[in-house]
Amino acid sequence: MSQSSLPRIGFIGAGRLARCLALAFARAGYPVTAVASRSADSARRLADQIEHCAASGNAQQVVDAADIVFLAVPDDSIGTTAHTLRFGPDNASRHSKALVHCSGASPVELLAPARDKGVSIGGFHPLYLFGGELADLERIAGCSVTIEADGALKDTLTALAVALRCHPLSIPPGGRMLYHGAAHYAASFALCSLAECVALWRTLGFAEDDALRALLPMLAGTIETARDKGLPNALAGPVSRGDTGVVQKQLALLEGLGGDHAALYGLLTRRAIGLARRRANPPATIEAISEAVEESLSRSLNPAAAGASVK
Ligand SMILES: NC(=O)c1ccc[n+]([C@@H]2O[C@H](COP(=O)([O-])OP(=O)(O)OC[C@H]3O[C@@H](n4cnc5c(N)ncnc54)[C@H](OP(=O)(O)O)[C@@H]3O)[C@@H](O)[C@H]2O)c1
Repeated sequence: MSQSSLPRIGFIGAGRLARCLALAFARAGYPVTAVASRSADSARRLADQIEHCAASGNAQQVVDAADIVFLAVPDDSIGTTAHTLRFGPDNASRHSKALVHCSGASPVELLAPARDKGVSIGGFHPLYLFGGELADLERIAGCSVTIEADGALKDTLTALAVALRCHPLSIPPGGRMLYHGAAHYAASFALCSLAECVALWRTLGFAEDDALRALLPMLAGTIETARDKGLPNALAGPVSRGDTGVVQKQLALLEGLGGDHAALYGLLTRRAIGLARRRANPPATIEAISEAVEESLSRSLNPAAAGASVK
C-alpha cells in the first residue's frame, strides 16, 4: 500500500509506549506526521527519529496534522486532554479523524468529548510492558493488542496491530478493568514475585544483581515450559511433588519472619494447589498440603500477626 493511501498517525505523549509505537508504525510504512508532549524536548527526541514528523509542545497541532491521534499520556490525563482538543472538518484528507487511547484500564468513553464532535474513538492496548528502549521494537512482535472500536476504525486499528506483527484481541464490553487488573500477574506482579525472592535472599547475603542473575534464567525457562506444556503440567516445586513437609517447613519459616511473607507464600501456594488439581494425576497428599496452607493463612492473614516485612 502506498503511504498516501494510509492514514496519517500522530501521538500526544512521547513516553515509553509512544516511543515504541510511533517508530514501529513508521517502520511499517505508516506516515507518522506529528508528536506532541507535555515538554517540547520529549516530543522532539521522538520526532527526530522519524522522517517528516513534526514535534510540538501543543497537542492541537497533532490533531491538525494526523488522521488517527494516539493519546499516549498517563491515564489520569486522558479525559482532560480529550476535552481540550478541537476537531473540525479536514477536507485535505481522505481519511476520517479518530482519537484513540492506549490504556488497558481506562474506558474508551473518556474520549466521548471527541465523539460528540463527530470523531471516531477507540482503544488500542498492547499487552506488553514497555521499558522505553529500542529493544521494545523487536520484542513487541508476537504480542497481543486489545482493540475496542466500531466500524471502519476497528478495521484500521486491527491493520495497525497486524503491521506491528501483533495479534488483535477483543474483550467483552465492560470487561476492561478486570482484564487489565488480571494482566498485571503476567507483567508487573511477576516483577513483584521476583522482588519478594530478592528480599528474602538478601537475608542470606545476596546482592540484588547476583540474585537476578540467578533468577532470570529460571523465570525464562519457566515461561518456555509453560508454553510447551501448559500451566498445570509446567508446575514444579513441592506442591507438584506432593511434598507436604517442605511446604509446612517453608510456611513456618516465613511466619517466623513476620510481615506478610507467609501470607504471600500461602496465597500463591493456594494457586499452585489449584494447578496441581488440574493435572490428570494430582499428588496423593494434595489435601494435606491444602490443610497446612489454610491453617497458615488463617494465622498470617490475621492483622494482629502482621509485623515488619523484610524490605
Ligand atoms: N508503559 C507500558 O508498559 C504501557 C503498556 C500498555 C499501555 N500503556 C498505556 O500507555 C499510556 C502511556 O503510558 P506510558 O507508560 O508511555 O507513560 P509514560 O512513559 O509516563 O509517558 C507519558 C508521556 O505523556 C506525556 N504527558 C504527560 N501528561 C501529559 C499531558 N497532559 N499532555 C501531553 N503529554 C503529557 C509525558 O510527557 P513528557 O515526556 O513531556 O514529560 C510522557 O511523554 C497510558 O495510558 C498507559 O496505560 C502503557
